[in-house]
Amino acid sequence: MQAQRLSLLVLLLSIVAVSCTRQEDAQQSKGGPMIRQSGYTIPTEPPLGLPPIPYPADNPQTLEKIALGEKLFHDKRFSTTHEVSCAACHDAAKAFTDGPLKTSEGINKLTGTRNAPTVVNAVYFRTQFWDGRSPSLEDQSLHPPVNPVEMGLKDHEPILKIVRTDPEYVAAFKAVFEKSGTAITMDEVTKAIGSFERTIVSGNSAFDRYNYGGEKDALTPAQKRGLELFTNKGRCVSCHLIEQTQALFTDNRFHNIGVGINNIQGDVPELAGAFLEAKATLAEVDIKVLTDKRTSELGRFVVAKDFDGLGAFKTPTLRNVAATGPYMHDGSVRTLLDVVIHYDNGGVTKKDDPVNDFLSGGIRPLNLTEQERNDLVAFMEALTSPEYLSAVNKKNIR
Ligand code: HEC
Ligand code: HEC
Repeated sequence: MQAQRLSLLVLLLSIVAVSCTRQEDAQQSKGGPMIRQSGYTIPTEPPLGLPPIPYPADNPQTLEKIALGEKLFHDKRFSTTHEVSCAACHDAAKAFTDGPLKTSEGINKLTGTRNAPTVVNAVYFRTQFWDGRSPSLEDQSLHPPVNPVEMGLKDHEPILKIVRTDPEYVAAFKAVFEKSGTAITMDEVTKAIGSFERTIVSGNSAFDRYNYGGEKDALTPAQKRGLELFTNKGRCVSCHLIEQTQALFTDNRFHNIGVGINNIQGDVPELAGAFLEAKATLAEVDIKVLTDKRTSELGRFVVAKDFDGLGAFKTPTLRNVAATGPYMHDGSVRTLLDVVIHYDNGGVTKKDDPVNDFLSGGIRPLNLTEQERNDLVAFMEALTSPEYLSAVNKKNIR
């Protein structure tokens, strides 16, 4: 294991120096159906348990823009087969995920390497994607349309053609951005999608009512014990943050907790080296990590290019987690109880598997009793917002 680290270090030193050029990728995206004009509000207060919603200075919310973004989000014409919209993999009825799929299915049932994270509360994430390779919602939405296993377009031109000619879009872009024809670019398209996504914000779970709303009976006794384990013995809270006035359940950082990396353990130096040598642009990285299972497992390394990034993924929020199984970046863990067992084992899903060389120092065996495991699961069941209670799937739990 030392030897592996050493050989990797040598590779990094020899390659990093010449591989640091990164190009802004000119990628792009979007899709959606009818314009729903009603039903939106721009909240002045965030829901209970959440911080203020951040709005970028160059993309202020308007109700018309939100409605346009919703239409784009649901437009299947932005894929080669006219079958796949953003909503295909981020379905509101499934808390904006695509369970029970482990990894998402795009055009022609092609599967990628990663599990679709929820869009709910993504507005609060400092970076987007499991490896944080995208800095904003607007940038993120450029990628799926041109990923070969997602929406499959060669470039963004087909999207622009539609939004510049479809009468409903022509009217909407005129009203929202005062633009028409070739003045409409992916900049406007992605801003509208970002605006829509900034409305997909949910708090007010039983946990929020207990912790922030003063409702002492909002949690069951098992859930209260689970909260105690979550913050103390389980140390979950060190990454899935709960703060004084709000809880995102993520630290917006990247950690190797032992998922997926065992599949490539022996090949890490070779894979990491090959990745660095390829000097991929961001657009190429996007395609590579979603089409090549082994490169996907490098995790944050493909962005940060350092040891700490190896096999590390972004801490996901746990809000609505009972509705978003299966779990982890590769969808490899089926239930919340299995997740707890993974942590209890000290970062391996099957007890006797080897612990990987790059495991986060924060992950160690927990010695939980069976009741403690179940209490942690019960606590995570208390994180569902009212909007997604009907999306909870019992098969995700135990
Ligand atoms: C084929 C399924 C599929 C389609 C279509 C799709 N996504 Fe995703 N989405 C995913 C997967 C899988 C990921 C995680 C990829 C990764 O991390 O490398 C993701 C990640 C995201 C994230 C990041 C969330 C986070 O926690 O980091 C957002 C936001 C998002 N998608 C929005 C969109 C939008 C907007 C569209 C349409 C333009 C779209 N998606 C189309 C499957 C899909
Ligand atoms: C060292 C930081 C860290 C600690 C400590 C930690 N987690 Fe995580 N958690 C993560 C990361 C990172 C992921 C995503 C890993 C991946 O996909 O490879 C994750 C994933 C999860 C998931 C899957 C969510 C999803 O949407 O797929 C659940 C559930 C979860 N953690 C619960 C817990 C619980 C319960 C504890 C305490 C017993 C805990 N975590 C402790 C960082 C941490």
